[in-house]
Amino acid sequence: MSDSEFKLMIPGPVSVSPEVLQAMARPVVPHYGDNFIHFYNETLGLLKVVFQTNQDMFLFVGSGTAGIDACVGSSLATGDKIIVGSNGFFGDRLIWIAEGNGLVVVPVRAKLGSVLEPADFLQAVQDHPDAKAILVVHLETSTTIINPIKEIARIAREYDLLMMVDAVSSIGGVPLKFDEWGLDLVATSINKCLGAPPGLSPIAISQRAWKSINALPPKYHGWYSDLRTWKKYATEWADWHPTPVTMPVNNIAALNVALKQLMEEGIENRYQRYRNLAIQLRQGLTAIGMSPMTSDHLLNPVLTAAYGPEGIPTSQIVKYLAKKHKIIISGGLGDLKEKTFRIGHMSPVVNAEDIDLVINALSQFPD
Ligand SMILES: Cc1ncc(COP(=O)(O)O)c(C=O)c1O
Repeated sequence: MSDSEFKLMIPGPVSVSPEVLQAMARPVVPHYGDNFIHFYNETLGLLKVVFQTNQDMFLFVGSGTAGIDACVGSSLATGDKIIVGSNGFFGDRLIWIAEGNGLVVVPVRAKLGSVLEPADFLQAVQDHPDAKAILVVHLETSTTIINPIKEIARIAREYDLLMMVDAVSSIGGVPLKFDEWGLDLVATSINKCLGAPPGLSPIAISQRAWKSINALPPKYHGWYSDLRTWKKYATEWADWHPTPVTMPVNNIAALNVALKQLMEEGIENRYQRYRNLAIQLRQGLTAIGMSPMTSDHLLNPVLTAAYGPEGIPTSQIVKYLAKKHKIIISGGLGDLKEKTFRIGHMSPVVNAEDIDLVINALSQFPD
């Protein structure tokens, strides 16, 4: 049986629309020249609409982590201090990424399943006046918690720190307002709420961030993953070859189609559609006695985690759904391994019928 016969309901990568898939099968074209530039700039423009920004946008080649690593490594110097939020697996990863880039980390933590508290960031900023930046995950994919980026960014603005966000699993499904909230560096991936196959990490950068980056002491952060390299090509080679490297042209074509489908549906309509699916799923889970992990006021429009029946490792539920119902969901991550399971509804092609299917399948466990 091929994997395509399975219904994919994990928190990325997601199933993509037939039109997006067709774009992947188009003839390969050069990653430079007039045609490419027109099409590349159009894609960047569509991404700016989703990020709600008029500032710089790059399409970094790689997974979401590559984009985050480029943001963190490019914008601070070795030994700089950074305040990093963590309330789960991906927040912990941000700490490793910062440490891997030679930064001194001040962690701000919250319990698993709780949101990061802006007041804790305020305290950290006041305790560490030499800190240069704040780094936070928007949607903590391990617990489904959405962190209050807008409120944390307000503190960054007040104390003149760079505000960096891992928005890998949120953009396209959870509102994020780059300019209005005063964000500085935000990276995402295209294979989650944006509904394209994996391979690219869109990155938005503020003019304020460039000022700070350009004032850094001489530093070494490779060449490829130094965002100054990407800026240089976007500026100096803009009319012919706007990126420093060969681009995955078919992935960009697929992303272009996915973004146009999002525009056609309307971003607000898409957000509302995801919310409706989340409500339907939460009600269905409650009805079969598998309670959602978070209470209703923490509803996540694109991802739902739940507890399985008492005493049963949740990997058994994940395996059961795949084997008996051909539905792929995810288990718990990190400290939630075997305790929760997670259902992704962040694909633009997931619909109400799919939610019914997964509830119906879960209701039969362990049959
Ligand atoms: C919040 C968050 N950050 C980072 C990542 C890592 O992304 P990637 O695997 O694309 O590098 C993920 C992946 O699920 C994620 O959910």
